[in-house]
Amino acid sequence: MSALHNFFFSIYPYICLAVFLMGSLARFDRDQYTWKSDSSQLLRKGSLRWGSNLFHIGILFLFFGHFAGLLTPHSVYEHFISAPDKQLMAVYSGGAAGFICFIGLSLLLHRRLFDPRIRLTSHRTDLAILIILWVQLSIGLATLPLSLHHSDGGVMMALGEWAQRLVTFRPGGAELLVGLDWTYKIHLVLGMTIFLLFPFSRLVHVWSGFGSLAYLIRPYQIVRARRMNVPQGQNQPRRPDASV
Ligand code: HEM
Repeated sequence: MSALHNFFFSIYPYICLAVFLMGSLARFDRDQYTWKSDSSQLLRKGSLRWGSNLFHIGILFLFFGHFAGLLTPHSVYEHFISAPDKQLMAVYSGGAAGFICFIGLSLLLHRRLFDPRIRLTSHRTDLAILIILWVQLSIGLATLPLSLHHSDGGVMMALGEWAQRLVTFRPGGAELLVGLDWTYKIHLVLGMTIFLLFPFSRLVHVWSGFGSLAYLIRPYQIVRARRMNVPQGQNQPRRPDASV
């Protein structure tokens, strides 16, 4: 195992995770007015409806699919589904979601590059994030035929074990990825880099997207009308120094 391989698969993940968590916290604390998805709907609606919706449907499926697929231990799902079948399910469902996401992302990228008003009001990171996501998605889609080639589920098991060792601070994960095709390796490194760039881009809105689910369980807001059925003067707040 080379030193570079060791760096990218056992040290870099922790750098990215630390910057992702601490950076998001610092940005939220210091710069709340820049914490937004920076909608460009006012500048041009066309292609946003299809682009944004297809992209978000696809990316959210891929996000949860990667999360559950990589971090669920084999011992939990082996009672329901075998490793080769799980891999097949991941390839087909991930392929469909990836295709939907790819169409949406290409529409978003096209409008951001070629609409002069959107181009002019875009920050460098807006463009960079879209391009990185597009490249990452394309490489992810390019791994699908490779995964179908190793239909025993071995690659998927190795990737899952690597991710689980990382989050449980167990060593030896990087060794499992030594013989892997470079397409997977680039997909992993670029994927981690997205977490690294997350706090410095509009991607911070993803936290708020998930955070908004808290509205489902938050207590009702109690709103008291000023117009109350009490004699005039009695609904005024009492001054602290007022005599009783
Ligand atoms: C958690 C749920 C999410 C919500 C509620 C959400 C919401 C939004 C909204 C409102 C916009 C602005 C669209 C407009 O221009 O009007 C946006 C844009 C964007 N979102 Fe999300 N988002 C979510 C998750 C994600 C995820 C997981 C990613 C990718 C990792 C992502 C990446 C982006 C990008 C790159 C843009 C900019 C698109 C453009 O160029 O206009 N979002 N999102």
